[in-house]
Amino acid sequence: MVVLGLETSCDDTAAAVVRREADGSCRILSNEVWTDHGDHAAYGGVVPEIAARSHVERIDRTVEKAIANSALTIYEIDAVAATAGPGLVGGVMVGLTTAKAISMAHRKPLIPINHLEGHALSARMTEAAAFPYLLLLISGGHTQLIWVEGLGRYRRLGTTIDDAAGEAFDKTAKLLGLGQPGGPRIEAAAAGGRADRYDFPKPLAKREGCDFSFSGLKTAVREAAQSMAAPSDQDIADIAASFQFAAARHLAQRTEKAMALASPDEPTPRLVVAGGVAANSVIKSMLGSLCASNGWALMAPPIKYCTDNGAMIAWAGAERLAGGLAPSLGEALALAPRARWPLAPPPEGGEIGGGRKGPKA
Ligand code: KG4
Ligand code: ZN
Repeated sequence: MVVLGLETSCDDTAAAVVRREADGSCRILSNEVWTDHGDHAAYGGVVPEIAARSHVERIDRTVEKAIANSALTIYEIDAVAATAGPGLVGGVMVGLTTAKAISMAHRKPLIPINHLEGHALSARMTEAAAFPYLLLLISGGHTQLIWVEGLGRYRRLGTTIDDAAGEAFDKTAKLLGLGQPGGPRIEAAAAGGRADRYDFPKPLAKREGCDFSFSGLKTAVREAAQSMAAPSDQDIADIAASFQFAAARHLAQRTEKAMALASPDEPTPRLVVAGGVAANSVIKSMLGSLCASNGWALMAPPIKYCTDNGAMIAWAGAERLAGGLAPSLGEALALAPRARWPLAPPPEGGEIGGGRKGPKA
């Protein structure tokens, strides 16, 4: 089964073609990503209108390239999948509408995908990530711990009560004058810094459960930076390293709680880490030690499949189609893009960030 996948929920315009083989394994035939960071740099973050416009300008060529590089033709593709939310709604609209048009013009099934499900299943493209597993999703928009029981069966164990992990890296980089995208800039600056110079707080240390918080860390970084009249490059490197260490420690500590909560009855349970922040080597090595000391296996897919990409959307579509979980064409065509779309119900204790438009993802 061959699926074309489109992803436009943030600032990357992405399209890919994947094949699900008869044995359930995945072959990624093409994976095109057009990253937009340049256009937003002057504003210090993603500007929804700029992102939506550039998706409109680039989606056709990106889809064309994905099909051409797969060495197949549109006639050999069995279905089209597209992110239908959550995300910046202008961008989601571009990808979903394009997918609807392709589906109608070529009479192919359409599978709208929850972006978070794309991340949740992405490890299964390249790793032997059998269900169930614990997912730590750490990206610019999301920070969640999800127990992935099976296809379409997700239990949310924790989420962030303020910023996402990537957002915290981006804001910290902005504060330190390091530019965007913040995560890689912080990691590069931290390489020459001392992580033990500042003892930044341990967020939610006294709070039960597996939720995350990054706003206290952000404040601590601001205070450290503002305590100096003219911080040197070394000062900036030390703050970046201390922040990165504190963020990694927070992620690892909450993940450890989720491991205990999930308590899978298996000799070697699996932790999958996904999302752009999973590129961070300090975070990855701390999670590696956590898994080693608890008898878990850590699965971290190649970084190009951790950040936003079309392959994970195509793959989620293929898994849904194969699992009999794809909607009818009528239902799929009627589906509107969604800015908010939680993947899993919240744990007891209610929603975080509920509101008129529904709970935050
Ligand atoms: O998954 P992603 O590409 O997009 C979504 O947000 O969905 O993640 C992007 C985020 C950005 O916030 C970026 O700063 C962060 O991932 N990131 C990193 C690193 N590389 C990317 N954060 C920390 N360390 C990195 N090396
Ligand atoms: Zn994402």
